[in-house]
Amino acid sequence: MNILRRGRLSVEPDEDIANFTSSMEADKRIFNADIEVDRAHVIMLKEQGIISAHNCSAILSALEKIKKEGISALDTSYEDVHIALEARLIGLVGEDTGGRMHSARSRNDEVAACIRLTLRGELIDLMEEVHDLVATLLGKASEHYETLMPGYTHTQHAQPTTLAHHFLAHANAYLRDIERLRGAYERTNQNPLGAAAFASTGFPINRERTTELLGFDSALPNSMDAVSARDFMIESLGCYACLMTNLSRFAEELILWSSSEFEFIELDDRYASTSSIMPQKKNPDIAELTRAKTGTVDGALMAVLTICKALPYSYNRDLQEATPHLWRATDATRAAVRMAEGMVRTAKIKKENMESASDKGFMTATELADTIVRVTGIPFRTAHHIVGACAKAGTTPTLQDMDEFSLGILHERLSDRGLSEENIREALDPMGNIRRRNVRGGPAPEETGRQAAAMKKKLADTGKEIGQIRKKLGEASEKLEKVYHQYS
Ligand code: ARG
Repeated sequence: MNILRRGRLSVEPDEDIANFTSSMEADKRIFNADIEVDRAHVIMLKEQGIISAHNCSAILSALEKIKKEGISALDTSYEDVHIALEARLIGLVGEDTGGRMHSARSRNDEVAACIRLTLRGELIDLMEEVHDLVATLLGKASEHYETLMPGYTHTQHAQPTTLAHHFLAHANAYLRDIERLRGAYERTNQNPLGAAAFASTGFPINRERTTELLGFDSALPNSMDAVSARDFMIESLGCYACLMTNLSRFAEELILWSSSEFEFIELDDRYASTSSIMPQKKNPDIAELTRAKTGTVDGALMAVLTICKALPYSYNRDLQEATPHLWRATDATRAAVRMAEGMVRTAKIKKENMESASDKGFMTATELADTIVRVTGIPFRTAHHIVGACAKAGTTPTLQDMDEFSLGILHERLSDRGLSEENIREALDPMGNIRRRNVRGGPAPEETGRQAAAMKKKLADTGKEIGQIRKKLGEASEKLEKVYHQYS
């Protein structure tokens, strides 16, 4: 007989209804967390004198057995892992003992705790994966401070830059993604236990103790909020969506750069597929899927937002429907980050092609206009007009061309205002353009070197912080393990 339904309900749901209701499949993801939550809760109950030492010990030993058996040994006719686990516990130690575990709690605070515990682990792992991606980008950038490449706006040749500048641009975005994830972690790692259904409990519980044993940073201050809130989930999904959008832009570039039109890089064979009909094809499928998974993650975010929209407080079963979207998006995001890291690490850079492409499209036009301004003192807008007219004519401008256009526009020769052939030659040198852009944030090799060094320091701090979080969680789990051995 179903331990949950036997009191209030008299008819069992048919298979179709049971399947509709069950979260057992998604609960595989929180099985281990559920065992931890049960342990911490039972230890706290014993310490508060709510259950006896004898019952505590019997429950803890049975939980160990259930953990070893795994979720697949549980009775899947139950609607979720929490009640199936309790049923198994009662099967092992009898109701007089096992039936005491659920004192002072509800599945509402229990499931929230399980999701938060599991998600925090995913967030740390993801932060570390993004950290590794940034480290790889910094390493690659350091080989290409002087590698000229076209910089684009509107996918049109715009101004020369370097591959280092381009890689560092992406790396900056991922550093911000790590910061965002860190914020999401902070708001995820909070203890809802003790909230019970929503109104807390009349038992003399100790929420600080479960907080400590489970490595939460603090207990959520309001019990109704504790079971109702899923904004930690939405925030994490928001971070994923942002990260994936950043990644998709990089993936798109890797795809473009691999094409015959660009030929800037060749992805490693591991990160390529071929065609079933066209024997010559080497396709950037991994980058394409990275781009596509952004849609999967955005969909998950939208699903959870919509599930939670206008949901009255406190717990509603709707919330169960949100959780699988979180895990699907978590998996997609973490994998995409690892793929991006691997693609960058192993790609062959076709430096010569990037350099030769930098000669096309008159990308030095801005510098030429700037040079005219600096040398002749005419307004930038007028120089822009003159150089634009030269560009329209389609030839690489000489001093004579410039004078002709300026006569028409300015009624003056630029050479009479001091512009020389030498000035023009210098302005038209792409590497000269780069070296001149030695201001904060610019592509000059010295400056990108400085940027990379600053980012490396930031990354090292991030790495340290991830280490500290892991250490704190490790200590909590050791403490829980120790108390568990003491009491079981
Ligand atoms: N499986 C449920 C979920 O994921 C657990 C909580 C069920 N609580 C309840 N009152 N029905 O949300």
